[in-house]
Amino acid sequence: MKRESWKSRAGFIFAAVGSAVGLANIWKFPYTAGASGGAAFVAVYLLCLLLIGFPVFIAEVIIGRSTKSSPRGALRQLGGNRFWSGAGLLMVFTGFLVSSFYSAIAGQILGYLVEAVRGNLTSFHNAGETLAFHETLMANPWWGTAFHFLFLALCTGVLFFGVRAGIERGNEVFMPLLILVLLALVGKGLLMPGSWQGIQFLFSPDWSAITPAVFLTALGQSFFTLSLGQGTMITYGSYLDDDTNIPSSCLPIILMDTLISLLAAVAIFTIVFSVGMRPDAGPGLLFHTLPLVFSQIPGGYLVALLFFLLVVLAALTSQISAMEPFVAYLMDEKGWSRHWAVAACGSGAFLLGIPSALSASLLREVTLFGMSFFELVAFVATEILIPLGGFLAVVLVGWKLGMGPTLEKLEQGTNGLFHRRPWVRHYFFFGIKYSAPILVLLVFLRELGVF
Ligand code: PHE
Repeated sequence: MKRESWKSRAGFIFAAVGSAVGLANIWKFPYTAGASGGAAFVAVYLLCLLLIGFPVFIAEVIIGRSTKSSPRGALRQLGGNRFWSGAGLLMVFTGFLVSSFYSAIAGQILGYLVEAVRGNLTSFHNAGETLAFHETLMANPWWGTAFHFLFLALCTGVLFFGVRAGIERGNEVFMPLLILVLLALVGKGLLMPGSWQGIQFLFSPDWSAITPAVFLTALGQSFFTLSLGQGTMITYGSYLDDDTNIPSSCLPIILMDTLISLLAAVAIFTIVFSVGMRPDAGPGLLFHTLPLVFSQIPGGYLVALLFFLLVVLAALTSQISAMEPFVAYLMDEKGWSRHWAVAACGSGAFLLGIPSALSASLLREVTLFGMSFFELVAFVATEILIPLGGFLAVVLVGWKLGMGPTLEKLEQGTNGLFHRRPWVRHYFFFGIKYSAPILVLLVFLRELGVF
């Protein structure tokens, strides 16, 4: 069977932006920036992208394109021994783990979209009411599980059609729609009275808020939002032709991802501040603060509907990218057909995601290390496995394969970019070989309590 590939470079860019832009942009970025010093956090975050995120992203795409394999085969080919083969398998597993809890939470957002359509998100009078509404839904085990299932069914449907007709086509429809909805919300936010307070809050730095913990958060955010460390970009890279220009295809992905995070924060803070509320509710921003806001602003019904549609679209295109490495693994390594691979991945993610979906209802009392099942899986994936996967990817190309061959692969398809612009070469050399691995290693040592 011939291996699939993207139809066009734009198709790859859309799909990768679709993967990158997700809950981390529209939900986590705004509330984290809100709680961690506004513009100061944004500055640290941009630095993390430059020194770590972009080099790791490029490393993963190089691994994928040069091997044309899903993560396990790719790492085995380049690493040449069982250690790297195991590392590839670990990435596939991480992606699968992410897809289980991501779907549980995205399902709840899909559930909120349904509530928005039914007009139930616009009649709140105070924070207590939104909280009670959310808790009633969450306490119902069927609600969480059913929407977890429904969301996965949507993603599985897209994946069934394959790389071109499913992932590429889907993203070419969903991403422009997402951007349109986002721009409409930004417009609405900017036109609200007092919207400048939201802008001011977001763009005036509070440097005193920057602590080592904030740096860790920014690093984690850059990994998760770029879908790194779990084989997604290796797999998406493996569908690229050898003559694709990697640097010029990947830069717009990073820029779009960052721009969309910032626009989401602008949309949310302008609207939140205009009704005199505080933006520091943390994760509750989405389910508690915003419905109250929608209840108070003119046109709240439409805004609520558009907002939750935006988040569902963003999550959908991310979820399919979290599942694709496992699907590709079953096809490449086990010889399964796409349909069986997708069915297995979808049902596996559903089953593994059930305890996450039930974490706020039936399994409310069950905790391990003080965390619910959902929190535990999310913690292990985002704080340990994802940084580890990203670290392994840069070490593989930067040290095992060596920077000579790596830069050669990177330059392929660029028409002599490194001759025209030697600083680009220096940047990638430094980023892939030194800054990314060393900084991630420091973060690990700190997490282990070494300093
Ligand atoms: N990048 C996605 C987001 O920002 C999450 C994601 C992580 C998707 C890993 C796929 C793989 O929400």
